[in-house]
Amino acid sequence: MQIEVRQGRVELAEDEALLLNSLEEVKRFVGVFKTVDQKLSGALSHLFETGDFTGKTGQTAVLYPGEKLRFGKVILVGLGRRDQITIEGVRRAFGFAGRKVRELKVKSISVQAFESGLAGVKLAESSQAMVEGILLSHYRLDRYKTDAESKPPALLKLTFWKEKRKGIGDIKKGVTSGEIYSWATSFSRDLANRPGNYLTPTRLAEEATKLARENKLKCTVLSEPEIKKLKMNTFLAVASGSKEPPKLIILEYVPVRKRADTLALVGKGITFDAGGLSLKSTEGMLEMKTDMTGGAVVLATVAACAKMRLPIRVIGVVPATENLPSGTALKVGDIITSHSGKTVEVLNTDAEGRLILADGLSYARSFEPDAIVDVATLTGTIKLALGTLCAGLFGNHRGLKAQMVKAGELSGERVWDMPLWKEYDEFLKSDLADVKNVGGRFGGSILAAKFLQNFVGDLPWLHLDIAGVDVKEKDDSYHSKGATGFGARLLLQFLKDWKKM
Ligand code: BES
Ligand code: ZN
Ligand code: ZN
Repeated sequence: MQIEVRQGRVELAEDEALLLNSLEEVKRFVGVFKTVDQKLSGALSHLFETGDFTGKTGQTAVLYPGEKLRFGKVILVGLGRRDQITIEGVRRAFGFAGRKVRELKVKSISVQAFESGLAGVKLAESSQAMVEGILLSHYRLDRYKTDAESKPPALLKLTFWKEKRKGIGDIKKGVTSGEIYSWATSFSRDLANRPGNYLTPTRLAEEATKLARENKLKCTVLSEPEIKKLKMNTFLAVASGSKEPPKLIILEYVPVRKRADTLALVGKGITFDAGGLSLKSTEGMLEMKTDMTGGAVVLATVAACAKMRLPIRVIGVVPATENLPSGTALKVGDIITSHSGKTVEVLNTDAEGRLILADGLSYARSFEPDAIVDVATLTGTIKLALGTLCAGLFGNHRGLKAQMVKAGELSGERVWDMPLWKEYDEFLKSDLADVKNVGGRFGGSILAAKFLQNFVGDLPWLHLDIAGVDVKEKDDSYHSKGATGFGARLLLQFLKDWKKM
């Protein structure tokens, strides 16, 4: 898709459709609204007068100007009340607009950009959100469809118009970020949506290698003998039930400036989670091809950092394996010595994410990062605790957590701060080993995070439990049914603003 930013009057553009965003309670038409209304003999005023379109967030309406304008269609999109407008509101509104554009099979659109920042939303931010809304609403995975009918023509051209020169630079910046952020989310959705038979650990590693080639990153893929040499035994224990070989993927972005601050990202890369010998039900397994969303998000984020040329060093670590039952599988009661040297008693093989992350986190420490962030579809319980609208945020560093909360607000991928009090350690005490991997019925997400904390030491660390937000059950604005790719835009925003503390 080609995206341009141009100075001039949007009504003079020549595209299939004109996208006009409108605030609620508009009293008087000015600028492009006035021109369009006049040309259409008051059709726009009429639309508002009837109350069929009020400008509420997410509302859309379509007008067909015939010969009177150069556009075949005018699509109106509501942005809600001026004093209540938020970045996420703009993103959602343009998600709905994008859906309309897709439904009408429009291939080129002109969009009227804001003329200035709004209260609480800067010009660059609103432009970025518009791009994200439109691009992400066009996301779909159609590689497994064989009939042309299921592959509608894509939107090819998007032009932003602004009348005055001032602020064009901000819009351009916002558009570029919007394209990169949307790429990261779509890339993550694509991998997460791929079924387990297509996206094996080997294939995931190939995707990382490809990203490295395209974005000039360093990529190392370690296979079983090397993983064994590193003594990453809790990772290998999970892999032992599967015929597909595990891979340890390390993707690294180094900025031009040497001696940059370093952040390590660790992502859960379970390409299919059957539960192991603690087997899930069929229903419980339905979502489990997306159990590598954390890994996909980490790979996408590292690549996007390179695209954005961020001045920090970012290392992505993704332990990738399946979790299957078999005659060679990890057993309930097994005791494993992890990469860190700590011993783990495995009392439920379905709590496998924390086992591979324990080794992933402890291995990531060998790069001596300034901070470490992990992302994982870790516990079903987080969905019970927080629902499907935000991820669980855990961590050992108050300032770093605050930075992540802020990134959540800006990116629309919100997080909620959860406790990690030391009193919870009690529940993970094992009779025989240093820790056990599960700890009773209550507070499951906290205990999972507590388990991980054993492997990060004193390093500033954040853990994102995205099990409640990684899949949508139906289309909604800029989300389509299936994988959300939650975390890519969040981490990118976090890294863009990251201040070492
Ligand atoms: N991958 C699952 C968590 C999950 C559940 C993600 C639902 C998305 C939707 C994880 O490996 C798991 O099975 N966790 C168990 C832990 C339990 C055995 C302590 C869970 O949440 O039930
Ligand atoms: Zn599991
Ligand atoms: Zn899992």
